[in-house]
Amino acid sequence: MCGIIGTLGHADVAQDLLEGLKRLEYRGYDSAGIATLYNGSIERRRAEGKLINLGKVIEKEPLQGDIGIGHTRWATHGVPSERNAHPHATDRVAVVHNGIIENFRELRRELESSGRIFGTDTDTEVIVQLIHHNLSQGLKPVDATSAALERLEGAFALAILFAEEQELMIGARRGSPLCIGWGQKEMSLGSDALALAGLSNRISYLEDGDWAVITRDGATVRNTHGELVERAIRTTALSEKQMSKGNYPHFMAKEIHEQPTVIGQTLNTFFNPLDRSISLPELPFNLLEIERITLIACGTSFYAAMIAKYWFEQIARISVDIDIASEFRYRGTPMAKGGLALFISQSGETADTLAALRFCRKQGQHIAGIVNVSESTIDREADIVFNTHAGPEIGVASTKAFTCQLVTLACIVIATARVRGAISREQEQELSSAITEVPARAAEILNHDDSLRQLSNVLAGARDVLFIGRGASYPIALEGALKLKEISYIHAEGFAAGELKHGPIALIDQSVPVIVIAPSDALFEKTASNVSEVVARGAQVIFLSDSKGIAALGDQAKESIELPTVHSFVAPILYALPVQILAYHTAVLKGTDIDQPRNLAKSVTVE
Ligand code: F6R
Repeated sequence: MCGIIGTLGHADVAQDLLEGLKRLEYRGYDSAGIATLYNGSIERRRAEGKLINLGKVIEKEPLQGDIGIGHTRWATHGVPSERNAHPHATDRVAVVHNGIIENFRELRRELESSGRIFGTDTDTEVIVQLIHHNLSQGLKPVDATSAALERLEGAFALAILFAEEQELMIGARRGSPLCIGWGQKEMSLGSDALALAGLSNRISYLEDGDWAVITRDGATVRNTHGELVERAIRTTALSEKQMSKGNYPHFMAKEIHEQPTVIGQTLNTFFNPLDRSISLPELPFNLLEIERITLIACGTSFYAAMIAKYWFEQIARISVDIDIASEFRYRGTPMAKGGLALFISQSGETADTLAALRFCRKQGQHIAGIVNVSESTIDREADIVFNTHAGPEIGVASTKAFTCQLVTLACIVIATARVRGAISREQEQELSSAITEVPARAAEILNHDDSLRQLSNVLAGARDVLFIGRGASYPIALEGALKLKEISYIHAEGFAAGELKHGPIALIDQSVPVIVIAPSDALFEKTASNVSEVVARGAQVIFLSDSKGIAALGDQAKESIELPTVHSFVAPILYALPVQILAYHTAVLKGTDIDQPRNLAKSVTVE
């Protein structure tokens, strides 16, 4: 949420900042702005709406200078408008901020009573006014900032620019991520390595509480206690190419189509083709001693956790609790020491998931993560991380990260089941073989793109859409509904098929498409009865199943899509694809902003 960037570079820094903001726009896109220093004065351009609007403003009124900061916003305090857009500035200091200053009302009252005049509704402006106030008390920029940071409560990543200070930028982080890019006489700051991909591939990640004084020659970093610290510089492999849409009209389409490849890449880190076994990296705990697993995540990543619960309990015979991070973190759940808490996150920065992780650490849990963005906060804080290899996911709606999370979880389940003696060697080979089929079967499913696109006409005209499934297909029903609502804005709900009779069936009439996720597995007959019940009430059933399922039930459906016949263990991974594709084409028909749906942002770094 909100992307920030800063650079001490060469002339025309505004263009570099604009390019960096393009790479960060997935974090928020309701307004954007850039400030530079020109002849010692702070110059600003800001615009409401997408970055393209800021580009037009800068084209009309170019910004000069070789040092500057930029921001793309996801509004928390204050409506999206030019006035509330960052950078916020006085004539002495300019700030871009990602996060929320919780004590901003109190600070604002205090600063207003000492004569400072505020011009926006944002929490961020208190940072600017506080630093300005400190400067006018005679403090130098570094001391004025350090004193201001001590007063702030809440979460922030900041980049700060000072009038007349052509060689100085300050960055600070508490709660929200921030990294430094190192170059030759060029230094930069950004919310993540993606932002800096065009500027530097040598990155150091600030730790929580760090703040950095940056000049063209380098950076000095202090920790929360004011001690000088070293933060390792790492070389990232991220390239600008990975962040382009290629020949696809949207990132989401590209990311859906990358799945066979990235699932394969993720699987390769666990699968040993010689003996068809799954091996995990060395674990800092003994799987045999784990009595309970807690899986925590948000949104789509939570649905991956839901599916994993079915797998862990049925295959590895171990009890699993699952929870949404925003609920879990405040419940004060008592946890027996020595359990395993596993956090699933594409970004590795989701504020609630991170808070839940820290809570579990205090409860004496072993902390594991499944994370797509390496060097993200969860990646660094977990005791052990299983990285997914989905590559940068730019579309706000998660697709390839989800299926890679599932493949990773499936491998962890197999390894856990083996270690605990819950499966035989033959069963292990059977399950491992099933997973190795996934990339090829995923590619087959992508061939159904055309028929799914035609089906999306049915959904595009609907006011409400229901998705139903049982067992591990139930979370796919939830995921299908989430995908559809977030990018097409059509109201959609996912239900456990067996729950319909307990209330939701009242929603059904001829106008409601019901998408049934029903691979022919052990629960197929049960789902089939539920299909008959909704058909009897006039529902238009869209049936996603394999040849056997369609032969058994296809005549009841208005439309069917025949998916490959696969082992029921891996069916949820593969059935994620058609629901993603359906949502995608429906959104295309509705003409919505697919990669940047309204009100959303990728990487939810505020609670
Ligand atoms: C939905 C979606 C979100 C994320 C959620 C968690 O398409 O992308 O629901 O899954 O915000 O994000 P991560 O996985 O980054 O923690």
